Amino acid sequence: MASKNKSTVFFCQQCGYESAKWQGQCPGCKSWNSFVEEPVKMTSSGKRLSVGLREAAAPVSLSQIDLKEEDRLLTGIAELDRVLGGGIVAGSLTLVGGDPGIGKSTLLLQVCRNLASQDIPVLYISGEESLRQIRMRAERIGEFSESLQLLCETSLDSIETVVRARKPRVAVIDSIQTMYREEVGAAPGSVSQVRESTNVLMQLAKVEGISIFIVGHVTKEGTVAGPRVLEHMVDTVLYFEGDRHASYRILRGVKNRFGATDEIGVFEMCANGLMEVPNPSEYMLTGRPEGASGSVVTCSMEGTRPILIEIQALVCQTNFGYPRRQATGTDFNRVNLLMAVLEKRLGLQMSNCDAYVNIAGGIRITEPAMDLGIALAVISSFRNIPLDEGLIVFGEIGLSGEVRAVSQAKQRVLEAKKLGFTSCILPQVCLKDVGSVEGMRLFGVRGVSDAMQYL
Ligand code: TYD
Ligand code: MG
Repeated sequence: MASKNKSTVFFCQQCGYESAKWQGQCPGCKSWNSFVEEPVKMTSSGKRLSVGLREAAAPVSLSQIDLKEEDRLLTGIAELDRVLGGGIVAGSLTLVGGDPGIGKSTLLLQVCRNLASQDIPVLYISGEESLRQIRMRAERIGEFSESLQLLCETSLDSIETVVRARKPRVAVIDSIQTMYREEVGAAPGSVSQVRESTNVLMQLAKVEGISIFIVGHVTKEGTVAGPRVLEHMVDTVLYFEGDRHASYRILRGVKNRFGATDEIGVFEMCANGLMEVPNPSEYMLTGRPEGASGSVVTCSMEGTRPILIEIQALVCQTNFGYPRRQATGTDFNRVNLLMAVLEKRLGLQMSNCDAYVNIAGGIRITEPAMDLGIALAVISSFRNIPLDEGLIVFGEIGLSGEVRAVSQAKQRVLEAKKLGFTSCILPQVCLKDVGSVEGMRLFGVRGVSDAMQYL
């Protein structure tokens, strides 16, 4: 046995405390039954060899490290490539999170298909579905090349052996909650299992240079089930959001060591897999009501891309003593704050009104630039006056009711023009940046009260 020549030690799974023998309670963090035996590789002289990033021990200067252009692998799905920061980086570990049934497995199978069709060896490992179920899904998506290999397995030791033997360029683990290691006593999906599994995968990715995608389910609280631990261990974190019952899906980059965060990719779930939506603004505005009060179009910057969004508000007399306020797709507290500003600065009596604010399209936006849009939607519904259909609105609102500058105003105006809008209410201070735009009437405002005059 390995333990005879002392090549194993015990680690506390909670805090990482190291001990030569097993202990019931960890002296470090006082948690019980957390010690797990782990093998440690020895050198011939009996010293411990640290596993992991085992490049030469000599330090190098930055210029000595060569960057190869082909380090990034394009997935052929432009929306995903952009969120990843320009393709898959070799040896990277990416977490794809989202509610069950939102399309994580579908997206990753499509990625595998595209890569395999370029003769790149890809391994798709599923712990959730049988090979036949994957085949059924694949039938809907299209033809697959032989470069894609499938494996149904939940034991990470077996997976590690297979991956090391096959050396695929890209591997997918669907999902991390089903994976387990024998040595960790806990059940699959528990904190220590998920952490340990991710650790093993990280070693594999960094040492072998394999790009690995991990699927993680999100719990009700919005964190990946069990541990947030996962988020800081991986290089890139992507979340799928959107209404499961509607057909569009938004893939948002939350963390990215190799690119900008807050980029989004928009997809539509069709009968044959996820399709890219190259022009999300058009998509977000479909089904907009005509001549309805309480509907305002605003422009939000999502990463490098401006997106037009419809804000809807409904303000009506409350039937009970206590008015109801609700916000869908944006920050509830922000809506409350904006309504307080309107009451105080414009003297609108809304304290006996219910108010509902909704961002159409199932997208979640918290950018302050949409404050003015929310405020005008609320006023428009309260006064029951519809706004001009060719109007778009953006600007941040301060507590004194002033309208403050937002970034990239010009880009927002140009996006609106592209979609046929003809006038724009924007912060006065942004007028200089925007200059004049042909076919667009620009109204600069200093405060919400100025904006109200355009109603
Ligand atoms: P799935 O990728 O299995 O979700 P996850 O892995 O995130 O749990 O997505 C499954 C949903 O997508 C399911 O409701 C069926 C639907 N779907 C389509 O509408 N069209 C398709 O081509 C495919 C493959 C799935
Ligand atoms: Mg799945």
